[in-house]
Amino acid sequence: MSAILDKVTAVDQLDVASRRVFVRVDFNVPLTPDGRVSDDTRIREALPTIKHLLEKGARVVLASHLGRPKKGRDAKYSLAPAGERLAELLSLDVILTDDCVGDGARKVVQDLRDGRVALLENLRFHPGEEANDPAFAAELAALADVYVDDAFGCVHRAHASVDGVPRLIPTRGAGFLLLKELKALGALVHDPKRPYVAVLGGAKVSDKIAVIDALLTKVDALLIGGAMANTFLAAMGRNVGRSLVEGDKLALARTIAERAREKRVALVLPTDVVVAGSVDATEGTVVAADAIAPDMMALDIGPASVAAFRDRLLGAHTIFWNGPMGLFEKAPFAAGSVGVAKAIAEAAAFSVVGGGDSVAAVQQAGLAGRFTHVSTGGGASLELIEGRKLPGVEALRG
Ligand code: 3PG
Repeated sequence: MSAILDKVTAVDQLDVASRRVFVRVDFNVPLTPDGRVSDDTRIREALPTIKHLLEKGARVVLASHLGRPKKGRDAKYSLAPAGERLAELLSLDVILTDDCVGDGARKVVQDLRDGRVALLENLRFHPGEEANDPAFAAELAALADVYVDDAFGCVHRAHASVDGVPRLIPTRGAGFLLLKELKALGALVHDPKRPYVAVLGGAKVSDKIAVIDALLTKVDALLIGGAMANTFLAAMGRNVGRSLVEGDKLALARTIAERAREKRVALVLPTDVVVAGSVDATEGTVVAADAIAPDMMALDIGPASVAAFRDRLLGAHTIFWNGPMGLFEKAPFAAGSVGVAKAIAEAAAFSVVGGGDSVAAVQQAGLAGRFTHVSTGGGASLELIEGRKLPGVEALRG
């Protein structure tokens, strides 16, 4: 196995019976307007680790953030809905503490019996979490004897619960989800089987510069869709009408195209797009990518582009996909993302999709089970592919 897991202990190698185990999970899940969990994937993905610990008689203390609260406690960012969903999935009571530190949390953890679960309230109600404040980390660490990280989506954050806390708890390790993610994404970085094809989409080139740079040293073809493609098309002098374009990134797009040529990576852009007058349109029209009218905007890649992307994907042995091909949440503009999802599902390749929107597109198409790996991490999966050190993984090494 690759260096990524060097000196990282797996959760099933830890002695946890009757011990208080602090488990960093990523329960940063989407909620409905009336405060219910609308997608419980991240909670379900944490179940193997939680169940393993419960079976071994551990006292499980779960910790997570939800959203980005900036003003301390805020009921709309409470982990209560996530706790309720977890209790349903486990068929077990989950005690939510009133706060993640302080007397209340200490008392709940002290009274916790073997095989029982407590969930600490949102870590980000305290600025010490994001600041990786040593005093805050020490308060959290005092709640446990063992530390387990199963929050792949957060390992790129050097926050207290991800970095400071494990460094204070010598008995520590990685949960099953984290191990699964690191193995799957690690395989894309270390010796991927060729041809390796990456598909990138989403709104901005600027968000993806580092990952594009890293991918250009690994892949045989880079397929670009989504609004990001508009910036490349505009950089090539195409008229893209009212499409979303990063006007200040045209030179960057040209540099990326030049770098791809140097590295003999095929940079594949859409040749046709689905256009409409606005994002609220109820239907779109397919036009050539160099024939977008001044009052129109590209909202998806067109069928010829899907066919070209599909050809590349069916010939690949390794595939990474991040970012949707268009406004897939709206039916008239979903065909590009669904087409890419279908092609990847059919390809005889090691396939990984990461990033909230592209994962949602795969789920919407009902194809998640046909991918080798569907990552729970957006930013974390990109940073791993960029080859950056992940604070949450570094902090686990023995
Ligand atoms: C995510 O949703 O990608 C993780 O939970 C990390 O959340 P953050 O971007 O707010 O740190």
